[in-house]
Amino acid sequence: MPDLTSNTGGIVSPNPFWLASAPPANSGEQIQRAFDHGWGGAVWKTLGTPIQNVSSRFGAVNYGGKRAIGFNNIELITDRPLEVNFKEIYETKKKYPKHAIIVSLMVETKEEWKDIIKRSIDAGADGLELNFGCPHGMCERGMGSAVGQEPKVNEEITSWAVEYSTVPVLSKLTPNVGDIVPHGLASQRGGAHGVSLINTIKSIIGVDIDNFVPQPVVGTQSSNGGYCGAAVRPIALHMLAALSRDPGFNIPISGIGGVTNWRDAVEFILLGASSVQVCTEVMLKGYRIVEDMIEGLEDYMRQHNFETLDDFVGKAVPAYSEWGNLDLNFESIAKIDPEACIGCQVCMTACHDGAHQCIHPNDDPAIRVPVIDESECVGCNLCQIVCPVDGCISMVEVDNGYDSATWNEHVNLGAKLRPKKGAH
Ligand SMILES: Cc1cc2nc3c(=O)[nH]c(=O)nc-3n(C[C@H](O)[C@H](O)[C@H](O)COP(=O)(O)O)c2cc1C
Ligand code: SF4
Ligand code: SF4
Repeated sequence: MPDLTSNTGGIVSPNPFWLASAPPANSGEQIQRAFDHGWGGAVWKTLGTPIQNVSSRFGAVNYGGKRAIGFNNIELITDRPLEVNFKEIYETKKKYPKHAIIVSLMVETKEEWKDIIKRSIDAGADGLELNFGCPHGMCERGMGSAVGQEPKVNEEITSWAVEYSTVPVLSKLTPNVGDIVPHGLASQRGGAHGVSLINTIKSIIGVDIDNFVPQPVVGTQSSNGGYCGAAVRPIALHMLAALSRDPGFNIPISGIGGVTNWRDAVEFILLGASSVQVCTEVMLKGYRIVEDMIEGLEDYMRQHNFETLDDFVGKAVPAYSEWGNLDLNFESIAKIDPEACIGCQVCMTACHDGAHQCIHPNDDPAIRVPVIDESECVGCNLCQIVCPVDGCISMVEVDNGYDSATWNEHVNLGAKLRPKKGAH
């Protein structure tokens, strides 16, 4: 039986699945129900000076018949009194001693950080998460992403928190920056035991085109919000990988952003996350999704003979490289399995209009399976991406007789490149 125990900078939980700091982690009653479903940890909805929220406050991108592939919010931090939150943290920790309770915090002055950290730890927090990410409302007040975008301020506030805390401290980073690495390094210099990423991406989710107001509508106006959900996963994965592979960065990462199932979680772990946080998918489907996540992760670990998470945290990081190190002589082409093909010909249109014009109708009009001109196929993958039948189009490696040669080797050492295809 694989051991799912996770350790992120000293915060230990029975499995790597944590609720992210957000509405599903707003109260003790909710978090206790979540733990009953199997969540290993929860990052409490950010505590600070309680705020007043607007109504409405959420929006979503629906696409191709699928609802909420991307999600947006203009909600702020907790709107509940601090004493109530601390009482519920205490009760929850007492009832669930083996689960991880991480308390997310956002205040302004050094004195306020000292006070709220002490009260969180007294209430039973196993760890703290510093919210340097919120891209709306709180940043206008000099907190949230306003801190996450300034490495010096990030480092300073992280160092205050580390000084005052007796439990591990994670800094939660904002994705609203050009390069995540200096910000992760700033938290590390400040003494953070780890970082969490990503918080939400600054966005306008849509516009009410009849009433001429962006969404979500608050009376007659709106404001930019934070984008999250399945659509942001590629951005989160990139930021995670960029930090994981940086030689100067060596503290653990809690991965967040668009995780919907066990497979997504494994991708985060392979790129260096030692725990994985989820918000939007829980808001859309409920706490029970963790049951499949745990089962799927266990099956995956069994399949690969991984006994612990450490056996594969970061295992895909060495394979993430800059473009100049990719083998330009590696060649693959598309092949259609005529038995699987249903003759819809969407691959033909895609290749014709969006790629390299090398999928053609069969000479015999009675046969709907298209024909690929392999001498022209550049192996771009587009036909495989649009084909509605899984496994019908495969990308097959071609032995073209050329040794491996990267752009860097070509420029610096004169390595020979194979002739170009599709360049006429
Ligand atoms: C409605 C809503 C409220 C959120 N509130 C907070 C918050 O109080 N503190 C925080 O650090 N992150 C907050 N987040 C961000 C999430 O914790 C998470 O970083 C982000 O949504 C990406 O994860 P996801 O794609 O699984 O939703 C909030 C997100 C949403 C959708
Ligand atoms: S898209 Fe797939 S199923 Fe449709 S014709 Fe092309 S190969 Fe066949
Ligand atoms: S891989 Fe690209 S170029 Fe080759 S057949 Fe498919 S779409 Fe066309």
